[in-house]
Amino acid sequence: MMNTTTRLYEVLYVSTLAPDAPLSVVAAIARKARPANHEKDITGLLIFDGMRFCQQLEGGQSGVMALLERIRHDARHVNVEVLHHGPLAKRRFGRFSLGYTSADSDEALAQLERLDGQVAVDAFVALLPGVDWDT
Ligand SMILES: Cc1cc2nc3c(=O)[nH]c(=O)nc-3n(C[C@H](O)[C@H](O)[C@H](O)COP(=O)(O)O)c2cc1C
Repeated sequence: MMNTTTRLYEVLYVSTLAPDAPLSVVAAIARKARPANHEKDITGLLIFDGMRFCQQLEGGQSGVMALLERIRHDARHVNVEVLHHGPLAKRRFGRFSLGYTSADSDEALAQLERLDGQVAVDAFVALLPGVDWDT
């Protein structure tokens, strides 16, 4: 468990599936990320729309930033763009999850890419009701 002196921190980024990466990488990433994040007390949500990723990660600052650095260098996606990172008062998610946005919101992640800061976080939160969860 995190002690009370550890600041809760969050990051939000968007990226694009690498042109040569098969769609099956998404499930593979989630399969490894679930136990790995649990072990580091990192929760959050990875949304995929068939082309773009949007991921929010939350937990202790050093753990979250270290994970972001690893993810940035992952060749399975390109154009990693951090939209927001900063302290967080209370976790948004109780665990790490993968979700898919439905066909009619295909443009949602493309739009998110053009935002940043708190506005981007608000747009991300607004997406949540339309997300299909992979359980
Ligand atoms: C879009 C995307 C999201 C990812 N999310 C996570 C994650 O939440 N947790 C995680 O451990 N790895 C995640 N990964 C995988 C990491 O990039 C990396 O492969 C993994 O942390 C293992 O790192 P290592 O090979 O240096 O041990 C993600 C990769 C991509 C492309």
